[in-house]
Amino acid sequence: MCGIIAYFGKKNVAPILIDGLKKLEYRGYDSAGVCLLNNGKLQSAKVKGRVSELEKLALGLNPANIGIAHTRWATHGEPNEVNAHPHFGCPAGRDPATRDKPEIAVVHNGIIENYSALKEILEREGHIFVSKTDSEVLSHLIEKFYDGNLENAVVKALKLVEGTFGIAVLCSKENKIVVARKGSPIVLGVGEEENIVASDAVAVLPFTKKVVYINDNEMIVLTEGNYSIKNFEGQAVEKVIDEIKWTATEIEKKGFKHFMLKEIFEQPNAIENTLRGRIDSENKIKLSIDIDFNLIKRIVIVACGTSWHSALIGKYLIEKLAGFSVDVDYASEFRYRNPIIGTGDLLLVISQSGETADALAALREAKAKGAKTLGIINVVGSTISREVDSGIYLHAGPEIGVASTKAFSCQVTALLLLALYLAQQKGKVISKEFFDDIRDLPQKVEETLKQSDKILLLAEKFEDSKNFIYLGRGLNFPVALEGALKLKEISYIHAEGYPAAEMKHGPIALVDSEMPVVFIATKDSTYSKILSNMEEVHARGGQVIALLSETDNSVSNLTENIIMVPKCREELMPIINTVPLQLLAYHIANLKGIDVDKPKNLAKSVTVE
Ligand code: F6R
Repeated sequence: MCGIIAYFGKKNVAPILIDGLKKLEYRGYDSAGVCLLNNGKLQSAKVKGRVSELEKLALGLNPANIGIAHTRWATHGEPNEVNAHPHFGCPAGRDPATRDKPEIAVVHNGIIENYSALKEILEREGHIFVSKTDSEVLSHLIEKFYDGNLENAVVKALKLVEGTFGIAVLCSKENKIVVARKGSPIVLGVGEEENIVASDAVAVLPFTKKVVYINDNEMIVLTEGNYSIKNFEGQAVEKVIDEIKWTATEIEKKGFKHFMLKEIFEQPNAIENTLRGRIDSENKIKLSIDIDFNLIKRIVIVACGTSWHSALIGKYLIEKLAGFSVDVDYASEFRYRNPIIGTGDLLLVISQSGETADALAALREAKAKGAKTLGIINVVGSTISREVDSGIYLHAGPEIGVASTKAFSCQVTALLLLALYLAQQKGKVISKEFFDDIRDLPQKVEETLKQSDKILLLAEKFEDSKNFIYLGRGLNFPVALEGALKLKEISYIHAEGYPAAEMKHGPIALVDSEMPVVFIATKDSTYSKILSNMEEVHARGGQVIALLSETDNSVSNLTENIIMVPKCREELMPIINTVPLQLLAYHIANLKGIDVDKPKNLAKSVTVE
């Protein structure tokens, strides 16, 4: 998704903006641009493509200490230089309507839904548009309303706008940057006589750990060595300065070829961080959840993508261990019907970023209807984490790889803790052995990671396959979905995840000697059933890849493509079993020469609907 960075301080701004954009690259983008303000003149550079290409142009501009920059992930208008941000008003003198106006430059994240209507009005008034974007209406609107005060012009423009925005605005006549948000994240990094604004704390981190999160309908005005925060009515808003707990080295690759591989290997440690302090010496689960579960009749989990897969596992765990009824919904579907939710329901939203637009919208809808809300979130201070009634942070550390890996295993760990917490609230007794097994989980994931070289050999064998099927049952069905998603998003190989027993109702028609079928067949309560499914695929010439519990030799007559994982209790299997599938997807994509941290068309944090 788009990224914003803006700086006002004493230093040369171009390298700071470029470094910030590089930190935002992981979010996914197709073009980039900068605009600097120097002695009343705006100078800009834009490229279609990589920030490294923009860097040469940006560093060639006259040095300045005020600037804004952007990475664009195309929504309206194809990725090209003209559609890249910043967008400008009409260049001075080009049109009578704006001849006496200063130059305005805007970078924008979000979508302006009524841009066509606004554009028509502005064009009738003489404004000349050059791009195909929705964002360009903002620069023209601000230009239209400019009468010597940039803040006022921004507010007047934003009041006409429908949709979502995080924006940073420069004006050639004023030494300031005006930033505003509604529905698109913005964080302010507070330095010594210098301040930086970004759409993502990761870009602020190398600069300062002191941050201020702003809410919807608030704006930041950066002036020399200072900042102020106001609402759109012009009233000052009191804010606390928070401290980011992540360190700058956590967003380095640390010798790994890709962030994704580093994050796969970080899982033992990340899971330990999710567990830390949450199981006491008497095996009581400690979660700071301020919700009376005696009043909760039903839990509805909403999430997107990989987080939705962990939600499916959460349903199994909570229903099995705690006996609560759980529904799982795609956040994007939930809000576009009339969901039956209200008092007595708990909406649980799962999101790594805490910024996914559909998840946020679903949360707001459920809150408005009277449901209690709980979040399982990784990014501290993110919008969702600030809007839920209570939350469980993952403490997984920053996840930079676009394909989610460690966030998934930590989400499932957090869901397991939640299920056990709810079970204990209901007075259910959980065995000591269960807790011992949870404490062993990081070690078991560590052992599983040792399979990486063996999985690489399988990747070499199957890298040219055009399709894959992943099959699992029970708790391993969402694992099959997750394995298939990982493969398709980073290797561009078509892959389907299915409940193994459903295979006979359709997908089996696809099975032939060209089709690898990955079975998640570790020893759980559905084991014997899934072996029959494996026989069925083998009988039709399909190429079986089997994920089995250690020392299980029972399918060696069906396949030599076997991955063994440590034995563990059923409830922990989804975490352990997903790791080899992450590695299989990674190795295949890497062998294909794909930049797995920046897969095409994908964005890390989907902040538009
Ligand atoms: C897949 C992936 C996405 C995200 C989804 C939700 O590897 O990363 O499917 O899981 O966009 O993102 P969050 O969890 O940030 O709400």
